Amino acid sequence: MNMWLLAVSVPLLPAIIMLSTRCRHRVSSLYHKALAWARKMVGGKVCVRRTHAFVFTQCTHGKVDSVLETFDLYAAKNPSLAIDQDMGKILDEAVMRLHPSSVLELGMHCGYSSVRMLRLLPPTGKLITVEMDPLTADLGEEIILVSGFKHHQFQVLTSSSANIIRTLHLFLDQNCRKGLDLVLMDHDPQQYLPDLLALQKEELLCSSGCSILFINRTRGSDEDLREVLAHVTLNPKYLSIGKHLPFILEVLYKKDD
Ligand SMILES: *[C@@H]1O[C@H](CO)[C@@H](O)[C@H](O)[C@H]1NC(C)=O
Repeated sequence: MNMWLLAVSVPLLPAIIMLSTRCRHRVSSLYHKALAWARKMVGGKVCVRRTHAFVFTQCTHGKVDSVLETFDLYAAKNPSLAIDQDMGKILDEAVMRLHPSSVLELGMHCGYSSVRMLRLLPPTGKLITVEMDPLTADLGEEIILVSGFKHHQFQVLTSSSANIIRTLHLFLDQNCRKGLDLVLMDHDPQQYLPDLLALQKEELLCSSGCSILFINRTRGSDEDLREVLAHVTLNPKYLSIGKHLPFILEVLYKKDD
């Protein structure tokens, strides 16, 4: 319902722009951002439902490799932003290099990257994945279970990333006391910087080292990522740019010497 309201109200924005002469540029850029986000959300929901139906019926239940192969098979015929094997392989390499045990994912979508990461975590590892849309979250959780993972290995939280970050310490169990050692941000890019700031403020990032991976889907303006880069440049004491990767901006956080 909300999404339809958004989809209907977004086309009205040009009228607002017409009324504004002073800040026309700013409003216009906001309009384009809102439009891109609305498209992704409305399109994303349909994608999630169809993808889920395909994967659920075609894969071998309990076999994580079969789940991922079925995702890739689906994406080969139905190109999707949420399922990208090339990006998935780069994510795999990052996870294998970083050996994280407590991972936060913001933006679960179809559960594709959640499953990819879960299969690379140690037995005591835990993934917390956040998805704003309740239906998407339910379908994604089902895919994780179908892949053979158990509830002690992951938790799906349904709310905005900002809300979750405020209460996340309640969900980090004992082996995560030291904080998160990997964060994957794949939600609204406009939330990338605010959420990074909130994670720092709430002291949720492991002080001896945490990698934050920002998915870069921009094919043009990467303003939101440039804001993150500017923040890193301004805080060289504890933030730095990690390994140069295609599709992903890696930021390293370290507060202890
Ligand atoms: C994001 O990706 C685009 C397109 O590949 C690239 O031009 C841009 O430099 C990337 N941005 C960052 C911050 O890595």
